[in-house]
Amino acid sequence: GEGARTFEDAERYFANYKNALEELAANKNAVSKKHGISVKLSALHPRFEYLHREDCVPALTEKLELLCGIAAKNKLTLTIDSEEVARIYPTLQIFENLLQNADLEGWQGLGMVVQAYHKAAPDLINLLVKKARQYDRKIQIRLVKGAYWDSEIKHAQIEGHKNYPVYTRKENTDLSYLVCAQKLLELRDILYPMFGTHNAHTVATILDMAPDKKGYEFQKLYGMGDALFNHLNKKDSSIPVCVYAPVGPHEDLLPYLVRRMLENGANSSFVNQIYKKDIAVEDIVQDFVSVIRIRESHTHPKIPLPSNIYGAGRKNSEGLNFDDPTEMESFAQNQSLMRLDKKKTTSIVNGKEVTKGTNEPTINPALNENIGEVVTFPKDKIDDVFQTAETGHKILSALTTEQRAKILEKIADQLENNRDKLIHLCVTEAGRTVQDADSEVREAIDFCRYYAMRGRQDFVEKGRALISPTGEKNLYHLTGRGIFVCISPWNFPIAIFTGQIVAALMAGNAVIAKPAEQTPMTAHAVIKIMLSAGLPKQALSLVLGDGDVGAMLVDHPKVDGVAFTGSTRAAKAINKSLADREGAIPQLIAETGGQNAMIVDSSALTEQVVDDVINSAFGSAGQRCSACRVLFLQDDIADQTINMIAGAMQSLKVGDPKNLDTDVGPLIDEESQMRLQHHKTKLDGYGQKIAQAPLTPEQKAKGCFFAPVAYEIPNLQYLDREHFGPILHVIRYAAKDIDTVLQEINETGYGLTFGVHSRIQSFINHVVDHINVGNVYVNKSTIGAVVGVQPFGGRGLSGTGPKAGGPQYLRAFATEKVVSTDITASGGNTSLVMLGD
Ligand code: FAD
Ligand code: 2OP
Repeated sequence: GEGARTFEDAERYFANYKNALEELAANKNAVSKKHGISVKLSALHPRFEYLHREDCVPALTEKLELLCGIAAKNKLTLTIDSEEVARIYPTLQIFENLLQNADLEGWQGLGMVVQAYHKAAPDLINLLVKKARQYDRKIQIRLVKGAYWDSEIKHAQIEGHKNYPVYTRKENTDLSYLVCAQKLLELRDILYPMFGTHNAHTVATILDMAPDKKGYEFQKLYGMGDALFNHLNKKDSSIPVCVYAPVGPHEDLLPYLVRRMLENGANSSFVNQIYKKDIAVEDIVQDFVSVIRIRESHTHPKIPLPSNIYGAGRKNSEGLNFDDPTEMESFAQNQSLMRLDKKKTTSIVNGKEVTKGTNEPTINPALNENIGEVVTFPKDKIDDVFQTAETGHKILSALTTEQRAKILEKIADQLENNRDKLIHLCVTEAGRTVQDADSEVREAIDFCRYYAMRGRQDFVEKGRALISPTGEKNLYHLTGRGIFVCISPWNFPIAIFTGQIVAALMAGNAVIAKPAEQTPMTAHAVIKIMLSAGLPKQALSLVLGDGDVGAMLVDHPKVDGVAFTGSTRAAKAINKSLADREGAIPQLIAETGGQNAMIVDSSALTEQVVDDVINSAFGSAGQRCSACRVLFLQDDIADQTINMIAGAMQSLKVGDPKNLDTDVGPLIDEESQMRLQHHKTKLDGYGQKIAQAPLTPEQKAKGCFFAPVAYEIPNLQYLDREHFGPILHVIRYAAKDIDTVLQEINETGYGLTFGVHSRIQSFINHVVDHINVGNVYVNKSTIGAVVGVQPFGGRGLSGTGPKAGGPQYLRAFATEKVVSTDITASGGNTSLVMLGD
């Protein structure tokens, strides 16, 4: 087994592993031949992750001690498989705990896998050997190349890591394997090398390195490499060859089997090449060391570094590596030293702080603690802001597209430089978890770079020449509209706040930014960063206050456009106010709520569904407009999926978001808490409670916490509106009713995000074709849209569009102008007659 999502599954896998060992122990042949088992730690704990090491390491050590105890007593072996590189640190801690265990003294059967594709492989071997010597234990090391290569590359790209933990060229892995093999063979006094490979060249090289054929063995996977090892056995049966055989039902083995399919099918794979008639044997067994030596670059030309995946137009933002102990330790240390300066947070107009106005407290929702004062913008000064903005618009219009794009890129770099400070503010003031805050900073950076890139493409200096009849020139220009009011919500105090502002600026507008009243300090810090990046100070003002201040800004006659993200109700009020004004009709870009659904059919992979449901419904405490609110489960698989969701909810950690292992932070404020509580009370009436995540009374008493909860409800009609928090509604459906389900979802009138989980392409196609939403996610979670990759925004009640982080967004902030010039002299078209042949 592997990848348990619930404690219940972990117990089941543990029982299976234990049972397997006991079966072996009862079998004399197995004992005399030193059989053993391989264990994947991810099967034995649902949160086997670096950030959850304080929980999972002791729990897994205890489980492994029990299994090792049986193995040691019966002279069997137990090898800990290596899974994703991200899990290596807790794996090493557990391994060391086992080495220290006095009951296992004298047993030489404890093993660990080292993956040669991991750049740290030789260091890992050094470390394991050091520990083995320290505790005076002989250990086993299985050397493999590594089975998760594609997932490692994907993970590093998505998370924006500095580099890949694995090599990107196959030959480098092959070379690393041999370097490690040589090392292991030299250390046979303290370890027993086990070479897991199906590559004849690798096997031959090892035989050449260790012709004594003593103190090591080869290992193969069941069903693979048979021809190679049968051949070897015929030539020399003295070398032990061990078979690793997966045991269990297909549904538990699926990920293992997929990895084997990839291994067999990959072009670079030895087992794939050996059967290809068009590849000469000489080519398969060529000396890769000489190939590597003459290469100009040791990295794969088609696998750019994570920062370069978007090509030359823009850099990918860098993310924290939450699995890297060194990076996490220095980050945590850094955070612990940060303090919020208690000075008052003010609006900023014309580059100056506006210190006059009424004071309101700012609250940390995780502790219900006052963390500062905010000075509400004085209403009688609203005209001044617009006057400044008018000047700002003039100055900004005089800048070239390139100059504005450069400012945006500078803002991006400054945001990146100030990442830790912004995370600290956002966690403290908005109650966002560190991971959420990190991805917010990344999104803000991506917005800047993406809009700079799009601006260069769309806002062509001196106009874009249009195809025209001879004798005339037609130039198409995009320019700013004037003054934009940007009103943003508290749930993305960095990302959405930045996205609106920099889009408006890039298009050439002056901006008056009005952040949510709950997150003024974060907004203030972001504005300071923007102003320090070379932006004309008149072009960007920060106005702090509540909805009334926002309404006054929107009502002002000098407004040329409003970018708003928030509730559908508020968006409609803004729309009305803009429509009622005298003069030109301003532009409104509104992004509003949703009633986001996910449909899961009976073919879906339950583990993947559960990961994505938990993430989509409860991530960010459900306080994302993209969050999944309603889960439709095909009745055939509903019970098993509900069980797994309920189990997975038990391993969610609700708490102070400044702790790195917190999964779910607080709600934004008490008002929100009351609203959700009210809805929950109603659900207790018509719904069936599935599960609620644990939340201690002490934690609950501390701040605005609300434990994630899931209810089964009869149908969608029970939900009259969006409930903005960690409440998941589950509805069963029969396969025959899928069209009714789709119709019901469409009839809510919302159209923001939607997810479908299925492994049947025709079903996916049908659902995708018939659902009316802005963002559809197939076999994915419905949250975390990436700028330029998943342009984000809804339709219907969910917003006006265009999509943030999409190709049309900047245009909505601009106005168009076409200049047509007759370039013929009176009576004659010189350009035509000069054409020549
Ligand atoms: P080859 O064809 O020579 O090598 C294929 C390997 O090269 C790929 O698997 C990958 O690692 C690497 N590779 C491919 N393309 C690239 C590239 N572009 N850049 C860099 N590297 C590349 N794997 C684990 O991860 N953990 C385990 O615990 C584990 N246990 C195993 C136990 C046994 C007994 C065996 C036999 C295998 C085990 N494996 C494990 C699987 C093992 O990683 C694969 O079977 C192995 O990588 C295949 O390598 P090969 O030498 O047989 O084939
Ligand atoms: C895998 O599970 C065999 O451990 C290796 O792919």
